[in-house]
Amino acid sequence: TKRIAIFASGTGTNFDALHQAIATRQLPVTVALLVCDQPDAPVIQKAQAVNVPVLIVNFRDYQNKAAAEDIILTALQAHQIEAVLLAGYMRIIGPTLLNAYPHKIINIHPALLPHFPGRHGIEDAFAAGVSETGVTIHYVDAGIDTGQIIEQRTVPVLPNDTVDTLATRIHDCEHQFYPDVLQTLITKGAI
Ligand code: GAR
Repeated sequence: TKRIAIFASGTGTNFDALHQAIATRQLPVTVALLVCDQPDAPVIQKAQAVNVPVLIVNFRDYQNKAAAEDIILTALQAHQIEAVLLAGYMRIIGPTLLNAYPHKIINIHPALLPHFPGRHGIEDAFAAGVSETGVTIHYVDAGIDTGQIIEQRTVPVLPNDTVDTLATRIHDCEHQFYPDVLQTLITKGAI
């Protein structure tokens, strides 16, 4: 089975969705490590609850990004990680990790890239008044949500939506979509 790491900074609903889908669908994948850059993030408990090892890296404790990513890379290698899925990891990946995992780091973004990159994809799409937004899964490069797109799914914005009802619809989409794409990539031997 393929050994993957999930990187997350926050709530961890995508962590849970991926972990659960891997079990339910019997995918040949092991979530072998959670890397978290926020010492108090709820995702940490979610990983511990399902016995996934956790590496917490507080970037403030390091001189620079490269020093922090060296620690992460050492852990990825120790856990024999073959691919990385970002799931709400709110940090740009640096060259240390990009060079070690070319085409093996994947991100999910809650908008139809190249529209609405950055930290507030849902809010920005809502504020722009679009009638359709969605979710993008893409390879990670050195930019902010600029890497090669793997697949996109659209999500409608309905007339009575608030940003919260739209966010719920986006998150529901993500929780199906990320496992679906993982399954496809595994089947194709792409990770
Ligand atoms: C998800 O909606 C994900 O698409 C987004 O953060 C959320 C994390 O939720 N990522 C980005 O905005 C990346 N630019 P979760 O912690 O519940 O999985």
